[in-house]
Amino acid sequence: MGYVLIIGAKSDIAKAVARVYTANGYDLILAARNSKELQSFAKDLNIRSSRKVSLVDIDVLDFASHEEFYKGLVERPVGVVVAAGYLGDQEKAQSDFEESQKIVDTNYTGIVSLLNIIANDFEKHESGFIVGISSVAGDRGRKSNYVYGSSKAALTAYLSGLRNRLFDSGVHVLTVKPGFVETKMTEKMDLPERLTAKPDEVAKAIFHAQRTGKNVVYTKGMWKWIMLTIKNIPEWKFKKMSI
Ligand SMILES: NC(=O)c1ccc[n+]([C@@H]2O[C@H](COP(=O)([O-])OP(=O)(O)OC[C@H]3O[C@@H](n4cnc5c(N)ncnc54)[C@H](OP(=O)(O)O)[C@@H]3O)[C@@H](O)[C@H]2O)c1
Repeated sequence: MGYVLIIGAKSDIAKAVARVYTANGYDLILAARNSKELQSFAKDLNIRSSRKVSLVDIDVLDFASHEEFYKGLVERPVGVVVAAGYLGDQEKAQSDFEESQKIVDTNYTGIVSLLNIIANDFEKHESGFIVGISSVAGDRGRKSNYVYGSSKAALTAYLSGLRNRLFDSGVHVLTVKPGFVETKMTEKMDLPERLTAKPDEVAKAIFHAQRTGKNVVYTKGMWKWIMLTIKNIPEWKFKKMSI
């Protein structure tokens, strides 16, 4: 069946994705900063599923290392799931360009750097799938998180163009737009229960959408309708709102 490469594998959503893919017969390569920290998680996955789980280091921000990272993989993955992301601090980002740059580079530039390499290889071999985890925050810029939101908007547009480009070569690109998810990223937030997904729920939705060839998936599904409403608020009204 081949193996799936998961980038940003220490993420809570990525770990849930790893559990779903191994349970469905896939081997994995988990790529993360300081991937050694995933040793016991990888061992546990292996015991539960008998699938092979390997670890490799990746820093999304170390653009110059990406070509070598990909060449160093044992063989071509059957697919890649990119889960790395950085929410950052909006207020800090407004006056500290380094924070803005870290948000934009982690959520966008670094992922472009990696996916350009992977997409070219998949296109050449006319096989593979690419799953990018974007966000509903990219659907419309809001004052509370527009630096993060704009980086996700850019990622969403990139994935859309990539899907369009790779269609003829049979490579599938899935854009995931989670709403709130209960992970390390949101642990300090007071999230509304009804609108908040568990990582396992997101992972199952990703697996199902990837296997069935969906283009875009919102998790929870109701976020699609929430964002449709938000996107349709006229700008003259939206600019006065605090949502
Ligand atoms: N949680 C939500 O409500 C929510 C909503 C919409 C979208 N998302 C997106 O879902 C994805 C997964 O996030 P999560 O919620 O699972 O949060 P998370 O547990 O905080 O995971 C984020 C991961 O990104 C990794 N990362 C950050 N910078 C990196 C870099 N330079 N190189 C490699 N890895 C890096 C982190 O690695 P370290 O462990 O090494 O720090 C961390 O494991 C992200 O793209 C996030 O933007 C989340």
